[in-house]
Amino acid sequence: MKNRTYIKDLKEHVGKEATIAGFVDVRRDHGKLIFIDLRDMSGKVQMVALPNHKEAHELAATIRPEWVIAVTGKVNKRPEKMVNKDEPNGEIEIEITNIVVINKADTPPLDVRSEGKEIGEETRLKYRYLDLRRPRMQGNLALRHRFIKTLRDFLDAEGFLEIETPILTKSTPEGARDFIVPARLDKGKFYALPQSPQQYKQLLMIAGIEKYFQIARCFRDEDTRGDRQPEFTQLDLEMAYVERDDVIAFIERTLIHLVQKVTPEKKIQEIPFPRLSYAEAMEKYKSDKPDLRKDKSDPNLLAFCWVVDFPFFEKTDDGKWTFTHNPFSSPKPEHREFLLKGEQISDILTTQYDIALNGFEIGGGSIRGNNPETIEAVFRVMGYPTEDIKKNFGHMLEAYRYGAPEHGGIAWGLDRIIAILQNEPNIREVIAFAKTGEGKDLMMDAPSLARAEQLKELGLKIEKII
Ligand code: AMO
Repeated sequence: MKNRTYIKDLKEHVGKEATIAGFVDVRRDHGKLIFIDLRDMSGKVQMVALPNHKEAHELAATIRPEWVIAVTGKVNKRPEKMVNKDEPNGEIEIEITNIVVINKADTPPLDVRSEGKEIGEETRLKYRYLDLRRPRMQGNLALRHRFIKTLRDFLDAEGFLEIETPILTKSTPEGARDFIVPARLDKGKFYALPQSPQQYKQLLMIAGIEKYFQIARCFRDEDTRGDRQPEFTQLDLEMAYVERDDVIAFIERTLIHLVQKVTPEKKIQEIPFPRLSYAEAMEKYKSDKPDLRKDKSDPNLLAFCWVVDFPFFEKTDDGKWTFTHNPFSSPKPEHREFLLKGEQISDILTTQYDIALNGFEIGGGSIRGNNPETIEAVFRVMGYPTEDIKKNFGHMLEAYRYGAPEHGGIAWGLDRIIAILQNEPNIREVIAFAKTGEGKDLMMDAPSLARAEQLKELGLKIEKII
């Protein structure tokens, strides 16, 4: 649109004519005076149609909320007693001279101007494109953007490279179920969607990339909860030539920078972030992600804490050993011998560090086993036959034979951090197109049935639809 002014910039046009465009927020018809509030991405402004601009006045009488219109008018300063100090544009008003209706709108099935908390979530997710019009959701998306942008800029300045890794890949054990994708060109075989880029980032360290990060989409087929979605976003990061405390110190510095830049109204309760051992956290707080806030009624208080010294392995229900966090972690150096010999399994502690914020686990990482012996030993403890280790992780064992620096990293649950910073009760509020608790996209109607010819091409047959 030619010469369009954003609503936020109208103040600079006082006394002049401007053209703005957006959604009709509300219309108040007082007969002679018709007030219309117009909303664009940058703000909201009050406009008035007067009878002396006949055509515009008549059109204004027909306009309804959520219509999309372009308006030309004069930007006037409001008389002193009409000034609304609480509104960003409360000092000005547009005197409408011309209106173009770009599109009419059906009455929306949900109120898009309220906070939305009174509306059922199914309706909000089904009409997400309308739900996102509400100022609260616009604010959440804007904060998410600013957070990720600030993070990218910070890591760039620190010498990190952002590198994309595949989505169609092979299973990486992260403790959840994989989503799998049938391979048409290799019938009967499947890709797995990554639960995280864990193996790729380790392979990038072997490739000589010393500082890697990625704003990475991860996929986990697990039961969804308030802080879990089947697909979610991580800051995934890995660094070479580091020990546990280097990563911890760097991540603290990054988080402090982000809070100061993006949400300066927030106060970090304690710096450096307190550090608890897993045993201590469980004993004192009965949680491995304790909420250490001294004042839980303060929405601007952030209590970060690290939890370290987790056991490497735990027993499964059928009496086997499994990893507690990450099979590619290195044990604490003093327990490496136990692992290699397969002794005192329950005593082996991992280099894993988790970070919690206000009672939520917002990230976790470790120093990795950077040689084939350590990695193989982990899978041996878990009872994998040598053959299976080779089949599933042979590429990792081989890669580590060609020289690997010591390295470690972390992944943050970005959705969780952003939800907490926005004081939102769950991560769906900070994800543009979130899924329901049952993993459904109600708007797109996904998952849905595949067409018969798609299945045929893939060599698949659905036996029975339950
Ligand atoms: P982990 O599995 O702990 O570690 O995941 C890192 C962080 O991601 C967030 N998270 C989730 N957020 C939303 N929905 C989910 N379903 C979900 N699952 C996890 C959490 C969690 O702390 N590869 C390792 C990291 C590493 O070792 O570097 C990993 O993915 O906030």
